Amino acid sequence: MSDHGDHPRLVGATEGSPSASAAVSPTAIAVSVRAHRAPAGATAERAATAMPTSGPLVDRYGRVHSDLRISLTDRCNLRCVYCMPEDMTFQPHEQLLSFDEIVTVARVGRELGVNSIRLTGGEPLVRRGVVDLVARLSTLGFDDIAMTTNATRLAALAKPLRAAGLSRVNISCDSLRAERFATIRRRGDLATVLHAMDVAEAVGLRPLKLNVVLLRGVNDDEILDFAAFARQTGRIVRFIEFMPLDAQGQWDRDRLVPGRDVIELISSRWPLRDVDGPTHLAPAERFAFADGRGEIGLISSVTEAFCGTCNRLRLTADGSIRNCLFSNEEHSVRAILRAGGGDEQIAMLLRRAVWAKFPGHAINEPQFLRPVRSMSMIGG
Ligand code: 5AD
Ligand code: SF4
Repeated sequence: MSDHGDHPRLVGATEGSPSASAAVSPTAIAVSVRAHRAPAGATAERAATAMPTSGPLVDRYGRVHSDLRISLTDRCNLRCVYCMPEDMTFQPHEQLLSFDEIVTVARVGRELGVNSIRLTGGEPLVRRGVVDLVARLSTLGFDDIAMTTNATRLAALAKPLRAAGLSRVNISCDSLRAERFATIRRRGDLATVLHAMDVAEAVGLRPLKLNVVLLRGVNDDEILDFAAFARQTGRIVRFIEFMPLDAQGQWDRDRLVPGRDVIELISSRWPLRDVDGPTHLAPAERFAFADGRGEIGLISSVTEAFCGTCNRLRLTADGSIRNCLFSNEEHSVRAILRAGGGDEQIAMLLRRAVWAKFPGHAINEPQFLRPVRSMSMIGG
């Protein structure tokens, strides 16, 4: 949750971690960090009481849901340390939704006002036939079809994916140093991923974004290197706070690097400008370099929750609708599909799932319980 009041604050004040503030020259910086990220207006008192049965997917707090994340598989060919252990157990294939089933849910979602989708995993590109699925989804009329991928298989698939209608990709890349990259991800190599970035851009999967999960003492000494990379390449580097969603349960608040520290450090070197101002929807807070050379983003899910503007809904690979990464509640659309249910039942399930959404996650509350399913089982 936001803990710094109602007014935008100047970055470069002496708060923040000792390492970040030590590197900051307060006079050089004129960037405000958004201060609105608590679940704005989302209080139980203001909650509406009757679930609508027509119109868009709206929750009790007035948040309209127009973004659907579809996980294609819980499997992955990497084993990032913040995500899953070496000996991860995966679901049997028959429990995953078929492509027909995924397309049905996406179509009903589209009819209810979903206008953007993101394909995730696990690693979406390890699912066979993914290009065909994208082609089918692209006939449904979404404004945007994006994918989050580790890019180990992207170079070969980028062109057909683009031709099938994929708009853009976010690529996970947690280090620009080959050895460290291999340590964090346990498998895979940096050169393959950097090459895939070039190929993806060349075929028009733009703007290209990098997802960097920062772990204190592991890769937080690369923040300025990543900022320089963003400036040199024009790729948007997004720094993600480590979330309590790792399968091994090793999350610890001391291991995350708060977004505010990141912005203080970068802006001490290169002045930044807040791109969107305080009212936009996306969870990534965007900052442009003041000299016009590139952009970075922050996904500060833990320290500056953006629940108040959340418009997301998730479909897990095994066919459950989840209204929040951090909730344990799931609504099985697979049960409806496999019992011969029709569009109307699926639509009602989507409505119920959205209606059941809490105003915000409670990571920062003492009573917080980490979700039973981890990130790769839910879909990032
Ligand atoms: N905390 C933060 N981000 C995570 N991801 C996976 N696990 C975690 C975690 N515990 C990220 C991946 C990928 C996206 C799907 O989620 O790096 O970019
Ligand atoms: Fe695979 Fe992504 Fe998890 Fe890494 S973070 S193990 S690439 S699913």
